[in-house]
Formats: sequence, C-alpha cells, structure tokens
Amino acid sequence: MKKVSLTIDGKEISASEHATLLQAARDAGIQIPTLCHDDRLAPYGSCRLCSVEITSGKKAKIVASCVYPVENGLVVETMSPRIVKIRRVILELLQASSPKGRVEELSKVYGTSTDKFEKELTFCILCGLCVRYCSEVKKAHALGFIGRGIEKQVVFFPEIALKSCPGCEGECFSLCPTGILPNKFAQSVPSFGKVQPTVFPVRLWDEDNFLNLTRNIT
Ligand code: SF4
Ligand code: FES
Repeated sequence: MKKVSLTIDGKEISASEHATLLQAARDAGIQIPTLCHDDRLAPYGSCRLCSVEITSGKKAKIVASCVYPVENGLVVETMSPRIVKIRRVILELLQASSPKGRVEELSKVYGTSTDKFEKELTFCILCGLCVRYCSEVKKAHALGFIGRGIEKQVVFFPEIALKSCPGCEGECFSLCPTGILPNKFAQSVPSFGKVQPTVFPVRLWDEDNFLNLTRNIT
C-alpha cells in the first residue's frame, strides 16, 4: 500500500494513501473531536466538529478531517486558534438544541456557553449515526430520515422496527451523541405500531448556517 507524508500539529506522519486526515491523526496519537463519525461507518461529514486547518503550498482552508483524504506535503493544524473558535461556535449552536450527552461533554472541554444562541430544543443533531448504523452494519433499515431542510427528522419505521429492533436490543442507542434515541424508543416500544417514534432534528444546523457563522472567523 502506498504511503504519503504529511505534517499534523508539527509532527511528520506517514499514512496510507487511502486514509482520511482523521484516521492519520488518530493513528499518530492526535485526537480530533467528532460527533457524526464512527469507524464502522462510511464517512459522513455532517457535524463539522472535526474541522482542521490545512495548508498546501500557499493556500490554507478549513476541511472536515473525517472525509478529507491525506495528501503528500499537506500541513495540518488540528487545534489552531481559528479551529478552536469554529468548534466553539459549533458547540454553542448544538447546545441550543441538544445540550446533553456527548455535546455536553465536549462543551465542557471547550468551555462554551449554553446561552449564546436562542434555545430550540430538538435533541437531535442529524448526525445520522443511528440511521447509518442500522442500515450499514445491521442491514435492518429500521430507522431513516424523512423530510427535507428544516423539516428533516429521524424516524423509526414501525413495520420494520417491530421485527428488527427487539433482536438488536438497541445497539444504535449508545451511538446517539445527544442521548435522545433510547428515550424516544422506550416511549414507543410498548405501543409500537400505534405510535411512530419520532426524533425531532436540530433546526439551526445546516450547511448555510455553518458557512455564515464561520466565514468571518480568522
Ligand atoms: S437520533 Fe441521535 S444518533 Fe440519530 S441522528 Fe439524531 S442525534 Fe444522531
Ligand atoms: S466527525 Fe467529521 S463532520 Fe462530523
């Protein structure tokens, strides 16, 4: 397997040409926070918490390390002041909608405020971990997204969930970074088929919001 050489946080690294920046960094003992990544699943790139700053030649840019491939000669900063500011904005946005679980843990690490943005509690950041795990690993497809844009949300499909979920015992629960999934499932299991468990999504969060909010961070 071909190797490429790059620098991450000042450390010279040799990585498989097929690796992402996140994999290369972790293999080198450099931790980057993530909310929508799981090694068992295809890269997704939705939460942007894994953003890093890369420089190639004279060009510098911000990329999501979980989807960006390694390149020869790349210089990567995982904790530059700009990156820390971006992560803080992301966490403050997420705190307004989903202030529990992994979001809460990371918010403490980054010392972010819970009241920077107006609260709109949804307890789902649309990370897709539950949906993707059920589909890619379990091949059950008991969960899915419905709706588009601000209407997008995660649902259990009762006809499938009724058959698949009891045998699985909620493996998706522990993946949920906000902790909402087990609650919604537990509420719904006794009357599965009558009630469609629905996880309401974050409404503040989409690509345009991210770009608008981070554009002026230098
Ligand atoms: S329910 Fe949890 S795991 Fe599923 S998309 Fe929402 S935050 Fe992610
Ligand atoms: S972990 Fe990379 S975008 Fe979510």
